[in-house]
Amino acid sequence: MPVKGPVPWSRDEHTGAKHDIYRRYLERWFPILLNGSNAYPSVTYAEGFSGPGIYSGGEFGSPVIAMQALTSKVPATKGVARFVFVDDDQRCVDMLWDTLRKAFPERPRSEDAIPLKIVKGTCTSHLEATLDAVRAWGQPIFANLDSWGNAPVPFRLLQRLATNVSSEVIVTLFPQHFVRFVSDLGEAGDEIFGGDSTWRTVTNLPPAAKSRHILTCYRQALHAAGFPYLLDFELIPRHGQPLYLVFGTRHRLGVKKMKDSLWEVDRTQGVGFRDPRDEQAETLFDLDQPQLGPLTRLLVQKLRDNGPARVEELRNFALLGTVYRPEHVITALRPLVADGTVTSENGRVLRRSSLVSMASVPASPVSAKPA
Ligand SMILES: C[S@@+](CC[C@H](N)C(=O)[O-])C[C@H]1O[C@@H](n2cnc3c(N)ncnc32)[C@H](O)[C@@H]1O
Repeated sequence: MPVKGPVPWSRDEHTGAKHDIYRRYLERWFPILLNGSNAYPSVTYAEGFSGPGIYSGGEFGSPVIAMQALTSKVPATKGVARFVFVDDDQRCVDMLWDTLRKAFPERPRSEDAIPLKIVKGTCTSHLEATLDAVRAWGQPIFANLDSWGNAPVPFRLLQRLATNVSSEVIVTLFPQHFVRFVSDLGEAGDEIFGGDSTWRTVTNLPPAAKSRHILTCYRQALHAAGFPYLLDFELIPRHGQPLYLVFGTRHRLGVKKMKDSLWEVDRTQGVGFRDPRDEQAETLFDLDQPQLGPLTRLLVQKLRDNGPARVEELRNFALLGTVYRPEHVITALRPLVADGTVTSENGRVLRRSSLVSMASVPASPVSAKPA
């Protein structure tokens, strides 16, 4: 859907934080794939909703950020990086050409080293076809699918990306869009969720559970498309609606690097982030120290549900099942061990190999049944 108002538009708070995450991640992604020990001859950075590359305040958009990440981190002699940008608003397409010319007055690399395609069309009709045309398949692709949050992305494209070598996606989602338009979208909306209609049961849920339901259904769709590792998080601006980013990869290293990028986001922007699975919806960036409350709750739940576990297992759970880093686990467990909620086989010492479990609660005389 073309932009309703003027182009460019002003950048909102969470867009700044989102750009910070893209930049930090791509500054890792390009060098690993083009300059690492198992480097590929080429990679492709693709956007299905590229925008004009600039905001009305002069801040650069994601296409420029991606090119800067490449040129600042990978020597010109290392491989080929294709850039593919699709947008269905002609004004965005024209402005993106202009913006790139201004941002890189001297072409940073030869045309062969950075082939560039900017295409007017929808993500559905043009992204896959353009990836075909530039011969991107068979080499890693990073697909940034940053729509207005309605994610009109063909499921087939997600499936193809998931089976392509070392390829990853990041999708912007506004669950409220689906909550609001569930009856208008009807069956047509099922395609976004991989053909599954479960998302539409959102109408029967209480308001507080709706966003989480949509997010869970979208995670399941990405998983069904073929991405075994998912990382989703909610960016919370001081003003306005929260925004969700869902990242899909087939590599643990991808999750780790995305999480590192997330935790390094410039906090002075005042945007917090949240683990969408935390029942108490605690924002993690309010203070200088990470807020470990949600992780503590998730660890306690896990130990209750699954019984004793090694700290290493819990670190793995934190990496793959929460927004936290493995390094946060021991810090979150320490107060639980100190107050006796959790016991460790090594007493108060917690190592990666320690076995920890919920302390058994003695039966209370009040609740005990009379003989
Ligand atoms: C959120 S903006 C993209 C911002 C950009 N990724 C950035 O961070 O700088 C969404 C863009 O998607 C475009 N758009 C909306 N629906 C589309 C569709 N179905 N296919 C392609 N582009 C679309 C709009 O014209 C708009 O430029």
